[in-house]
Order: sequence, then structure tokens, then C-alpha cells
Amino acid sequence: MTVTSRTQVGIVGAGPAGLLLSHLLALRGIDSIVVENRSRAYCEARQRAGLLEAGTVELLRTVGLGDRMDAEGLEHGGIYLQFEGERHHLDFRDLTGGRWVTIYAQTEIVKDLIRTRLAAGAMIEFEVSDTEVGELDTERPVLRFTDAGGTRHEVVCDAIAGCDGFHGICRDSMPPGLIRVAEREYPYSWLGILAHVPPSTDELIYCRHQDGFALHTMRTPQVSRLYLQVPADEDIEAWSDDRIWAELRHRLEVPGWELKDGHISEKAISPMRSFVASPMRYRRLFLAGDAAHIVPPTGAKGLNLALADVTVLAKALSSLLKDGRAGLADAYSDASLTRVWRATHFSWWMTSMLHVDPQSDQFGAELQLAQLRYVISSRAAATTLAENYTGYFPLTWEY
Ligand code: FAD
Ligand code: PHB
Repeated sequence: MTVTSRTQVGIVGAGPAGLLLSHLLALRGIDSIVVENRSRAYCEARQRAGLLEAGTVELLRTVGLGDRMDAEGLEHGGIYLQFEGERHHLDFRDLTGGRWVTIYAQTEIVKDLIRTRLAAGAMIEFEVSDTEVGELDTERPVLRFTDAGGTRHEVVCDAIAGCDGFHGICRDSMPPGLIRVAEREYPYSWLGILAHVPPSTDELIYCRHQDGFALHTMRTPQVSRLYLQVPADEDIEAWSDDRIWAELRHRLEVPGWELKDGHISEKAISPMRSFVASPMRYRRLFLAGDAAHIVPPTGAKGLNLALADVTVLAKALSSLLKDGRAGLADAYSDASLTRVWRATHFSWWMTSMLHVDPQSDQFGAELQLAQLRYVISSRAAATTLAENYTGYFPLTWEY
């Protein structure tokens, strides 16, 4: 038996993009349903991003999601860039006229969003299967899924948002030949750990070492997050905890500084990829976040882009569904792609400058070092990094 129902916006995926979209639509009086194939516990525990641009922080505050972030987030006014055995500070506040970033984990944003949405009586269906989107050539697209109890549902919508990440189904549901893909795979991956030890640094350290990139970031004053560049096809089993700490120490060491170690509660390897699908819309099916684009994590842009997409999309859907005006919906893909390509360039640039490319040679290595020396010595070059890192495009949300 299939249960049929009706809503205004069907949202596929309860990641940051899908959850924030349902919240923003509710603020504008628009109903939605979110369907998610994982459990709530899995979504809340999935270790991903940690760094928010100033505009993302301001957006979350404006829409009533700032309380815990303001209490627990860590505001940073810069980063360290390390290469040739020396650590240099970039002061974002000075370079950009006062801008900053905040460390507040994606897991916490997802928890805040799920709690807020459920308290408002929102429909979030976890552990669904066989999600499908259909009738895309009409003004009433249909979202189909099987709920956790095995009942098949068919939800007739005014619009569908594909917020289902890189491996979701929405992008591939668009008509064949519509989507153009521009992509690049990098010949290395990141091994990331979560460690129960206070960070050994006050701000993030991005380190280019001749044996590979390393990043020291953090989650809280008690929990550190660190990453190591490893070969693209690396097996996590090859990395004992002792080996990870030894390699982090080796790459991050500078005279007079010590890396504190502690219990590793998570370790995983993530591939590095740039990917942009365009257009991000087919009629009343809209893609947002990782469903449409992926950046390598070196620029810390993925989560920020996902939240920016749905901020623009919520306004567009509100204008379309409440006022019958299609202008913003028609502009959604191009407007988003301009921001996406800026972040794609920045993420590629940071990645290429800081990682050791196994396919490159002495010439490539010297170019990286020349660029790094330029960034720390030229105010113009440092400002380029700082204004992109803290967020180049303003985000606005008004009630
Ligand atoms: P996702 O978080 O992938 O959510 C998509 C959801 O859809 C998932 O819950 C998935 O289970 C669900 N789904 C998929 N298919 C279906 C289906 N068929 N039916 C129903 N549900 C489905 N970004 C930053 O901005 N700053 C950082 O510091 C940063 N660091 C990162 C570090 C690492 C190691 C990694 C891997 C990523 C990092 N990112 C960072 C990127 C960021 O985590 C992602 O860009 C972000 O998760 C995108 O959110 P999303 O909601 O678009 O997609
Ligand atoms: C993180 O905190 O996980 C993080 C921060 C900055 C990055 C990537 C990841 O560039």
C-alpha cells in the first residue's frame, strides 16, 4: 500500500543543507518534509567540517540558531601558515578590516537544527529507503520513499530540493544530458583524527612539509582535530595511533613548540575532489550543497557553501510559492554558481599550494614555496587569502 500526501517542498537529505532549508522555509511560513536514509544518531555523529565563515555565523544567529554556537564556538582572528620549518601568523582581522571565523563543528550544527526542527513539529523521516523523485516535467513533482516501518509514501510537492550530498539520487534524476560536470581529482587524501587532548595551538596551523601537508584544527578546548596528507589509495589499517602521532609531530614540529597527544576516538580517510555540476536546477527540482558541488577541504568551504545555497534557495522558493514570482528561482543556479566557482578556485589554490603532489617535480615544489613566501610577505597576497577564507560573498537573510 502507498500512502499519498501533500506538502509544499520535499527535501531529500538531513545534512546541514536540507535541515537549514526546512528551517528557513518554516520561517517564511512554507511547509516541508525532510527524508533521510540514515538514522538521527548517525547524522548527528558524522565527523565533517568545523570552520564557519563570519557570514555563516551571522546567518545562524539571525535565524535563531546561534545560542549554543555563541556559547561554545571558538572565534579565531587568523591562521598559521607553516613551511620550510617556520610558522607564520596571518591576522585576518587586520587584513580584512575586522573579519574572523568560528570553530563550531558540523555535528553540533546538525544537532541544533534537528532539535529546533523537531521542537517546531517538523516532519523529518529518518532511515528511509528507495528515495525517488519523479514527475519532474510538471509543476507537481513527487517525492517517493519507504519509511523505517516499511510503508511506501508518495508526497506531491510544489518543489523538491536535492540536498542529498555527493552520492545522492537527485542530481542523477535530472534529464540525461542536462547537467555538465567540471571536476578534478587530487592524487592524495586526508587522514583525519579526533583526539581527546586540548589543542596545542590557539589558531589553526596549515603546514606544507616536504613529506606532505598537515593541519592542526580543533573542536573544543578539550578536543583536537588533526589531518595528514596520505596517498590517494591509502589503507587506514596502515596507520596505527602511534604512527599517526609520530608523523604529525614530524610534519608540524618547529623549535620551542610541542604537539600534545591523546586518545584517538575516530580516524578516517577522505578523498580530495573538486566537482561542480551545472545547472543546479531543472524546473522545480533544485540542487543544493554537496549534491551539486564538492571542494577539497583545505579552504574549509564545503559547509559554508551548502548553507549559502539554501539561504538563496529559501528566498527563491518563498517568492515562487507564496507570490508566484519565478525571478529568483530562475536566477538561483547562476547566482549560486558564481559563489561556488569563487570557492572552488580558492579551495583548489590552497590545496595546490600546500600539498606535496607525487606527480610533480622540483619545479612544482619551488613554485609552491615561492607562492607561500609571497603570501606571508605581501599584504595584498595575504589579504587575498584572508578575504576568501573568511568569506568573500556576503550572506543576507531578512524576515
Ligand atoms: P551532506 O552533509 O552530505 O548531507 C546529505 C544528506 O543526504 C546525508 O545525511 C545523506 O545521508 C543524505 N542522503 C543521501 N542520499 C540520500 C537518499 N537517497 N535519500 C535520503 N537521504 C539521502 N566544509 C567546511 O565548510 N568547513 C570545513 O572545515 C570542512 N571540513 C571538512 C572536512 C572533511 C574531512 C570533509 C569530508 C568535509 C569537510 N567539509 C568542510 C565539507 C562539508 O562537510 C560538506 O560540504 C557538508 O557536509 C555539505 O552538506 P550537505 O548538507 O550539502 O551534504
Ligand atoms: C576542521 O576543523 O575540520 C577543518 C578546518 C579547516 C579546514 C578543514 C577542516 O580547512
